[in-house]
Amino acid sequence: MPRVQRESLDIQVDRAQAAKELERLAKLIAYHDQRYFTAANPEITDEQYDALRRQNQELEAQFPDLRRLDSPSHRIGSPVASQFDKVKHRKPMLSLDNVFNEKEFLDFGKKLRRFLKMPEDVVIPMVAEPKIDGLSASLHYQDGQFVLGATRGDGQEGENITANLRTVRDLPLSLVGDSIPASLEIRGEVYMAIADFEKLNESRKQLDEQPFANPRNAAAGSLRQLDSTVTASRPIHFFAYYAQSLEGNIAETQEELLKKLLSWGFMVNPYHKVCKTTDDVIQYYQTMQEVRKTLDYEIDGLVLKTNDLRLQERLGVVGRAPRHSIAFKFAAQQAETIVDDIILQVGRTGVITPVAVLQPVIVGGVTVSRATLHNEEEIRRKDVRIKDSVIVQRAGDVIPQIVRVNIDKRSISSVVYNFTDTCPCCNSTLYQTPGQIAKRCLNGFSCEDQAIQRLIHFASRDALNIDGLGERNMARFYGLNIISTPVDIFTLEQRNKTFDEPIEKWEGWGKQSAQNLWDAINKVRVLPLDRLIFALGIPQIGQTTAKLLAKHFINFERFLETILKAFQNDSLVQKELMNIEGIGHGMARDMIDFFQQKHNLQMVEGLLKHIQVIPHTVEENLPLSGKTIVFTGSLQQISRSEAKAQAEKLGAKVGSAVSANTSFVVAGNDAGQKLKAAKQLGVEVITEEDWQDMIRKAG
Ligand code: IVH
Repeated sequence: MPRVQRESLDIQVDRAQAAKELERLAKLIAYHDQRYFTAANPEITDEQYDALRRQNQELEAQFPDLRRLDSPSHRIGSPVASQFDKVKHRKPMLSLDNVFNEKEFLDFGKKLRRFLKMPEDVVIPMVAEPKIDGLSASLHYQDGQFVLGATRGDGQEGENITANLRTVRDLPLSLVGDSIPASLEIRGEVYMAIADFEKLNESRKQLDEQPFANPRNAAAGSLRQLDSTVTASRPIHFFAYYAQSLEGNIAETQEELLKKLLSWGFMVNPYHKVCKTTDDVIQYYQTMQEVRKTLDYEIDGLVLKTNDLRLQERLGVVGRAPRHSIAFKFAAQQAETIVDDIILQVGRTGVITPVAVLQPVIVGGVTVSRATLHNEEEIRRKDVRIKDSVIVQRAGDVIPQIVRVNIDKRSISSVVYNFTDTCPCCNSTLYQTPGQIAKRCLNGFSCEDQAIQRLIHFASRDALNIDGLGERNMARFYGLNIISTPVDIFTLEQRNKTFDEPIEKWEGWGKQSAQNLWDAINKVRVLPLDRLIFALGIPQIGQTTAKLLAKHFINFERFLETILKAFQNDSLVQKELMNIEGIGHGMARDMIDFFQQKHNLQMVEGLLKHIQVIPHTVEENLPLSGKTIVFTGSLQQISRSEAKAQAEKLGAKVGSAVSANTSFVVAGNDAGQKLKAAKQLGVEVITEEDWQDMIRKAG
């Protein structure tokens, strides 16, 4: 028996001693973890390390209430509750806009300067950081202790995965160093190394478990474990890149902020660099494209962040992305392989996609065995045939694609593929929307492949967000004919009472989980308009468009009525649809086509019997809520776009023409017609200085 273990059993310690010892052990083990995991330079043997951990474990067993927040025993995880709680983010967790080449990056710079009303020759220093291909997480520290960790979720609200994050070795449970704000939030990227991902997949295959598609999915799957001992067994890592505190600014620049993160004990990606000029950025982009090949984790580009944090604040947010940062994506990685077959898949909206079945090949560290061929025209244009040798590429999130055929290697046995005119799932005749290339099955919920995907989409996070109706359960309910259309979701609780074997009796279920499901369903019987529009799964109508539609139509009745009129060829109404900001001709067509399908209309009418749609509301509690402002003339201190953003941030609407409904006009230099109109209508006029004053007071 190892010496240390016997010692700890023999010696009787009192509470005070135990507390002290637990503190010493937490710090010591964290130190050795850091040597082992992050510096890859251990100072003690594995046996000595295990002995320290055992000592800690035994003391905790004797004094369970003395288990520290930063106890190393958290690293091994524990089986936890039946579901994750929700966590509302203090500030939304945003995403980034992308640029793909030098020109687009230069345009981004121009936009920044224009927004900030800076001359063309001013350089805005940027920090370049590798864009880690993982998933973001938010960590809360209270008085230097890790107390809460959450996923990004939909950006507004994530899931509480604290127990899982505690097992991530390069995430400090207790911070070190100076000037640590009492209430601190850190954000960064959780990821898995490529080699670890391949190893994990190997062992999953041996256990007959589904392998993960890429390292990012493996990291995400590992974090979403209800049993954190599973997470603990997975090699996941964390790079920190952002911090905010309730107590005020942490740093003046992103560079300084990264230094602070490092000093507090976080892993910060070592390849970050301050770029003073655009040329610096381009050069670093090229350097990192080479470095990328040597890294043992995936990066898919650089993130360029305005270094000055005050400028970041001024630049603000547009849609779901900040104006101050951009992702400069790398070109996709490529490899060559053989097409074994071409098969057809039916997507959620009925679109038929041909998919090439490939001989597995490693592309940028990840095994690829399928690639999308998009549509019939694409197969013809690229002249892809079965048995051809092809160049495939993958770019981050995107499904692998076939770039071209290697004609030199074409054999006489290659086979030309003939696209069919019927749905591979339900055999109905395919339809081609005028002006669109894709062929589509219009059978909706009557086509199995579509029905299941549509149902999953309907209940998914950004749509109705029904916990308990994720992919697996939905597939099961569908397979058993228990849920075939969205309406069935809302009648399930009643019908369940008549089942021979009600859900609560199923294996893996129970009274509580069934009750959770009823609660989750009942919670969404009242839901906001934009969520419903998005949930319907109308082709091309994503979240952003659904929001625009909700904003325009305010309530569901008006939305539906307009579209129904539009397909009765009411040209005025068709015009209204296309004139909505952000709605193009194709989208309008798709909405009309969608409701023209009787089964879709019936489904929606059925749904309305079970749900109540909350009309779109404008945020009412902001200082300028309900006000409509018009800017005119040239502003001196800020750009028109920044002024507009300031106004919208405070809840105001910005109008383009002055009317009796205008609350006030902000007049810059040389204001003309609009100023005149304001005076005529008796609308209040203020100066640019007055406006800045108003902003300052409101902020
Ligand atoms: S900054 C403003 N820095 O990229 C929101 N994000 O496409 C972006 N990501 O959700 C946060 N590496 O998951 C930032 N060095 C980095 C990053 C990074 C990877 C991810 C992050 C974010 C996504 C946006």
